[in-house]
Parts: sequence; C-alpha cells; structure tokens
Amino acid sequence: MDGLGDGVFSKVYVSICNFLRKLLWAILAVGPIPNHVAVIMDGNRRFARTRKLEKEYGHRFGFLSLISTLRNCYELGIKYVTVYAFSIDNFKRKPDEVGGLMELLQEKLEDALKEESFIKTCGIKVLFVGNLSLLPEQVQDSAKKLMEETAHNTRAILSVCVCYTSTDEIAHAVQEACDENRLICTMRCNSSGTNKGNSDEFLVTLADLEKHMYMAHCPDPDILIRTSGETRLSNFLLWQSCFCYLHITKALWPEFSLRHLVWAILEYQRVQPYLEKMKKKL
Ligand SMILES: *[C@@H]1O[C@H](CO)[C@@H](O)[C@H](O)[C@H]1NC(C)=O
Ligand SMILES: *[C@@H]1O[C@H](CO)[C@@H](O)[C@H](O)[C@H]1NC(C)=O
Repeated sequence: MDGLGDGVFSKVYVSICNFLRKLLWAILAVGPIPNHVAVIMDGNRRFARTRKLEKEYGHRFGFLSLISTLRNCYELGIKYVTVYAFSIDNFKRKPDEVGGLMELLQEKLEDALKEESFIKTCGIKVLFVGNLSLLPEQVQDSAKKLMEETAHNTRAILSVCVCYTSTDEIAHAVQEACDENRLICTMRCNSSGTNKGNSDEFLVTLADLEKHMYMAHCPDPDILIRTSGETRLSNFLLWQSCFCYLHITKALWPEFSLRHLVWAILEYQRVQPYLEKMKKKL
C-alpha cells in the first residue's frame, strides 16, 4: 500500500477502535461501575524471564500496562484506582534490581511531572501511599512534587502504594491514634487541673484507626485484581478488603489488557448485589 493509503487506513482503523471502545463503555455502564479498583501488579519478572529479557524490561512493560489500565479505568468513569507498586519487603531483593526499579520510578515520575503527561492532561490526583522515607531522596522529592502539583485535581484519584505493607499501615494507624488520644487526654487533665484522666478517653476506637490509615482518603475497594494467577493478598489492603470482590487472572501484569479489565468488571457486576447485601448487614 502507498503512504497515502496507509494514512487513510490507519485513520479509519483508529476511529473504528474509538467507536468500539465507546460502545464497550456504554454496554458496561448498564451494570454497576465500581468506584474503586485496586490492583496487585504481579508478574513483571516472570514476563521478562519467560521472554529471556532483562528484569528491567519486565518492569518497563509493566509500566506501559499501568498507563493503559489507568486510561481504561478513567474512560470507564472509575474514580479511584490503587496500585501496589512496591512493598516494604521488596527492598530485600538484590540491590541492583532495587536500584534499577528506583531509577525507573524516578524516570516515570519526571515524565509525569511534564505538563503534557497523561496524569496532568486528564486531571488525575496522584497520592503516594506508604512510608516514603524509605525511598531514595531524589525519588521522594519527585513524588512529593507530583503530589503537590496534582493536589487540586478531582476527576480521578490514583494511589500508588510504595514502601507499603498493610500490616505497617495498621501499626502506623494504631500508633498515631494512641498518640492523638494521649495528647487529648493530657490537655484535658491539664485544663481541669487534675492528674487523673478518664481512662475511657484512652480507648482507641475503630473510627480513630480508620482516620489514621494511609488509605483514609479513599472508600474501600470494590474490586481487587491480582495478576499472574497467584491467590494471595501479599499484605495489600488487608484492612480495606473485607467486602471487595477478589479477581485473580492468569495474565502476567505486562499482559493485562482491556479484555482482562472488562472481564473483571463483568464478574464484579455479577456478584455486586450480593456484596452490597453483605455490607448492609453490618
Ligand atoms: C519509616 O521507616 C523508617 C525506617 O524503617 C522508620 O524509622 C520510620 O519510623 C517509619 N516511619 C513511619 C511513619 O512509619
Ligand atoms: C500538661 O502539663 C504538664 C506539666 O504540668 C506539661 O509538662 C505538659 O506540657 C502539659 N501538656 C499539655 C498538652 O498542655
């Protein structure tokens, strides 16, 4: 085919694809659309290994998969997306792999900071969740900068769990709740001039804990997707996932595509009435 024919062909192709995507979103929107989708992005290394690539390429392809999944969720009107990017335990991997991952993270953060980035043009708010002080300083600075520059965005919220584990989140929330209660109690005792506080005020309630969770800015997830066929939660959102639909797919994370997402949502729509009933029983 000559150059002109090629151009026309690709234009027609793109408009057909766009039309089909819109049609697909319209069909899915007949059922309940999840408000919050959480993903354990597993399988980058296996993807690289089975294709005899360097590990780094597994992570790079994984990143592409993240962007296309974000775009799909965004077009479908899913407000909250949370991804498990790096666990505290991942720091125990070989230093060169951890170093490579941090370089990749830094590179992608710099891309996201550009005005024409997907994050900025779509008006997505980005939050990094976890103990950021474990990250290299440069990465911490870029992450904070991206959070500041997108803080006013409201159309969608992406939470990136880095240096995160659920147990660390819970321990941290307990610590903060206790500190807060102790402070309140001391102030009351001081102002009433007695040394004896009411011991009930030291009680930490469920609401206190939830307020101090790293994920307090989000409602609980409706779907938790795990790729690469593993059936574990791996210390991710344990507190928040009591009533969410757990979707396991065999696809490795870099292979995760539109059809996998659509399938997960259809399955969610099938069980959603039951999940809602369970929540109401509480
Ligand atoms: C973050 O991790 C560091 C190093 O392990 C620790 O000293 C610090 O207390 C942690 N911070 C929070 C907020 O958990
Ligand atoms: C309460 O009083 C003690 C000494 O009486 C003081 O050291 C402490 O800072 C006060 N705490 C608050 C929160 O005001």
